Amino acid sequence: MVSARHVVLLHAFPLHAALWRPQRDFAPPGWRYNAPDFPGFGASSETAVTSMDAMAESVLRTMDGLGIERAVIGGLSMGGYVTLALYRMAPERFEGMILADTRATADNDTQKEARRKMIATVREKGSSAVADEMLPKLHGARSQRERPELAEAVRGMIVGNKPASIAAAVTAMMDRPDSTSMLASISVPTLILCGEEDVLTPPSDAEALHTGIPDSHLVLLPGAGHLSNLETPAAFSTAVKEFLVPLKS
Ligand code: MLT
Repeated sequence: MVSARHVVLLHAFPLHAALWRPQRDFAPPGWRYNAPDFPGFGASSETAVTSMDAMAESVLRTMDGLGIERAVIGGLSMGGYVTLALYRMAPERFEGMILADTRATADNDTQKEARRKMIATVREKGSSAVADEMLPKLHGARSQRERPELAEAVRGMIVGNKPASIAAAVTAMMDRPDSTSMLASISVPTLILCGEEDVLTPPSDAEALHTGIPDSHLVLLPGAGHLSNLETPAAFSTAVKEFLVPLKS
């Protein structure tokens, strides 16, 4: 009997594992998708953590608990930051990598200042204030025009997360290291995806990842913004499927 191979998908900020619902039924034969919540997010009862390394360790614990030795591991945006931290920590657990709507660079001073403001906002006004601030940037222009129901679904995920967990993740993102210098050392096949209308991590960030990672393939998704897997689910899932099928065991 051939055992299933695994894809582990890590969610964006300030969402939770339900982000990956559109991909749940798209696994090619022989592959199984797993989408854990980071500590403190979604259905997790753990206390939220304040570093990318601690988030990466939580993913390793999840994989260990499920008996997953190696997997194609990937994430969208913050999930991509954690994926890079995890590769730094345990490259032997990767069979391949997926980086969606994310970047290798660290925050600059302006971005760090915006993070500090967001921590204050979520502490004073709660998760819905973060939803108000982020929603206009999460979806591309076409989704905002043609799929207004997505915004409600995403708002539901954001307000379902505790303010303390959101603040912890902002701290983790603000303090994350620059991963640019490690890109050349990534030795597993890597799929890079990005919505063409992504204003948070624009296609230029995806192109930089593609330039830096030797065995990488870049797919730009027309009509998608930052949450490309939700906005253009069929195109996203097809690209992932086409990436997985030829991977050798
Ligand atoms: C995310 O979608 O995970 C965040 O927008 C990433 C970030 O703020 O850097």
